Amino acid sequence: ERKVKVGLLGLGTVGTGVARIIAGHQEELRNQTSSQIEIAKVLVREPEKKRQIELDRNLITTRADDLLMDPEIDVIVEVMGGIHPTKQYLLKALEQGKHVVTANKDLMALHGAEILHKAREMNCDVYYEASVAGGIPILRALMDSFSSDRVTRIMGIVNGTTNYILSKMSREGAGYEEVLKEAQALGYAEADPSSDVGGLDAARKMVILSTLGFHSPVSLEDVDVQGIESVSREDIAYAKKMGYEMKLLGVAAHDQDGIEICVQPALVARSHPLASVHGVFNAVYVYGEAVGETMFYGPGAGELPTATSVVSDLVSVVKNMNLGVNGRSVVKPYREKKLKGDAQ
Ligand code: NDP
Ligand code: HSE
Repeated sequence: ERKVKVGLLGLGTVGTGVARIIAGHQEELRNQTSSQIEIAKVLVREPEKKRQIELDRNLITTRADDLLMDPEIDVIVEVMGGIHPTKQYLLKALEQGKHVVTANKDLMALHGAEILHKAREMNCDVYYEASVAGGIPILRALMDSFSSDRVTRIMGIVNGTTNYILSKMSREGAGYEEVLKEAQALGYAEADPSSDVGGLDAARKMVILSTLGFHSPVSLEDVDVQGIESVSREDIAYAKKMGYEMKLLGVAAHDQDGIEICVQPALVARSHPLASVHGVFNAVYVYGEAVGETMFYGPGAGELPTATSVVSDLVSVVKNMNLGVNGRSVVKPYREKKLKGDAQ
């Protein structure tokens, strides 16, 4: 039986979930991969911090090279977040021939092309399913299930924190600040929650979805972004009275005139399925020329839903290792980017 050693960058909300699933689902992991997957080292900032999970103290380190330069470690699972030093760590891991699984949409939206380029060069895998919509397998769907189709539109709720806030304000008349604190305590919000409420987190996810769905190298500057900071309890109550729910929606469209992407608060008629997506749940519509309309629904953030996506990516990496086909799932956008409004 092959032993696969994992270096875990980060042991916060998602990292704890990853460690729990690897420890608790050994039978599933072994049956799927014919391998024994184990966490060999964990990188944190504060080694003495009280954790939600008991791990052998010898596994914990504050030196990234203990993982990145350890020849025995096969896969780096990155759930620490941020751009720096995370990007350097992942590039270093790839240079060492290690495969990467990450939940980091900030990094993949801004520097995904560079990271994937390095992965291709090194015949390494980079999987990042958890970076968009937590537990919903939407990137796999775009990369695999719609690979024969022409995707024309991607739309939905892709931020759990704001949906949690708007739902609680609408259903319970709760105050914005108080519900934001709850979302932080539940581990849904980003380290800097202004990226959630300001729409940037959703915009980054729309960049990833559009790049994969439209096969074009979309960037963050292409997204028109507006958050929910200025939405008041009164706005929500008034919308409700008129038969609408306020939702932060991401919308990306692609036609012969080009691509258009935005994130903004929108009034959704109560009869529309998106109006019933409450709390931390996300929902993403994908429209394909041939397939028509599809909808993906599930938990958009949180420890175990997100960790499920991460560990399932890890399973894909190990299956590829067994077959000797790592690096083949790393795809490159093949269409030139054309934005709506660009000069012809
Ligand atoms: P947390 O803030 O809960 O955890 C971050 C972890 O990384 C902590 O253990 C922290 O160490 C460690 N860490 C951070 N920076 C460094 C550093 N420079 N050096 C060493 N260790 C570091 O984050 P989350 O688990 O919530 O999120 C992790 C990633 O997953 C982010 O990219 C996030 O966007 C993404 N994500 C999160 C989801 C969620 O529901 N929370 C859902 C989907 C994606 P220490 O504990 O010592 O402080
Ligand atoms: N902060 C993000 C959210 C985490 O609330 O959706 C999941 O990507």
